[in-house]
Amino acid sequence: MHMRKKKWARPELAACPFFTEEGEQRKNHWREQFPDPSRPLHLELGCGKGVSTALMAAANPEINYVIADLSADVLGDARRNLVQTCGEEVRNVQILETDICFIERVFGKEDLPERIYIHFCNPWTERPKQAKKRLTHPRQLLQYRSFLAENGEIWFKTDDDTLFEDSLVYFDLCGFEAVYLTHDLHRDGFYPNYISEHERKYLDLGVPIKGGIFRKRGPEPDFDPTRYRLTPGVRQAALLWLNKDLDRRNE
Ligand SMILES: C[S@@+](CC[C@H](N)C(=O)[O-])C[C@H]1O[C@@H](n2cnc3c(N)ncnc32)[C@H](O)[C@@H]1O
Repeated sequence: MHMRKKKWARPELAACPFFTEEGEQRKNHWREQFPDPSRPLHLELGCGKGVSTALMAAANPEINYVIADLSADVLGDARRNLVQTCGEEVRNVQILETDICFIERVFGKEDLPERIYIHFCNPWTERPKQAKKRLTHPRQLLQYRSFLAENGEIWFKTDDDTLFEDSLVYFDLCGFEAVYLTHDLHRDGFYPNYISEHERKYLDLGVPIKGGIFRKRGPEPDFDPTRYRLTPGVRQAALLWLNKDLDRRNE
């Protein structure tokens, strides 16, 4: 999506007490950034304008959130949305400007968030080579695994069928068990669901929202994700197996 440059975003973020672009300095110290570090820590990756984030943060003041995106322009909007919904004193959110492709530089084994949200990440479906840029690609999932709490979860939503199915294979391969799956989140009445900017757009177009909750389980996967390519044959076989496994568990 093309966005016009927002001149006000950078100065507003620079003056914001709950914004940082220096995530590397907070590695292993994220919990201490909040008034009560003992509260659960949730991380939202690719938060965009933070429309759903603001609703979620206001509804759950007992949870500490770190929300991350690459773009200062959208983070400027996220800051404004948060202040509008939660008030000037936003105490349970830290906004982080970072490239999630290198997230292991900013989150470490002491951080241990209990939950990661990935909502409507770019599907990168045009060319197979682009798949490695997906926020659910094994390159990414193995990084998240390294700092996620034991039994920690990734909550994933998308409008895109190909990204959804490929991601089911990625999650399984990277040692995440699907504890909830839906091919139509709204029809299934998932609650509470905080609707993001992109979710609203696809809902209005009548596109079903797909999603799932994926829980970290052992043992540690042992493969090189930088070389990983999901071939059509493997994809088909893996999905067949995964669907059978889910049917069996639902019986
Ligand atoms: C399609 S938007 C979705 C935004 C929001 N989650 C929503 O549901 O409305 C994807 C977001 O991911 C961010 N993004 C994509 N790749 C990223 C990366 N490598 N690091 C940080 N943010 C990234 C983009 O800047 C964009 O804001």
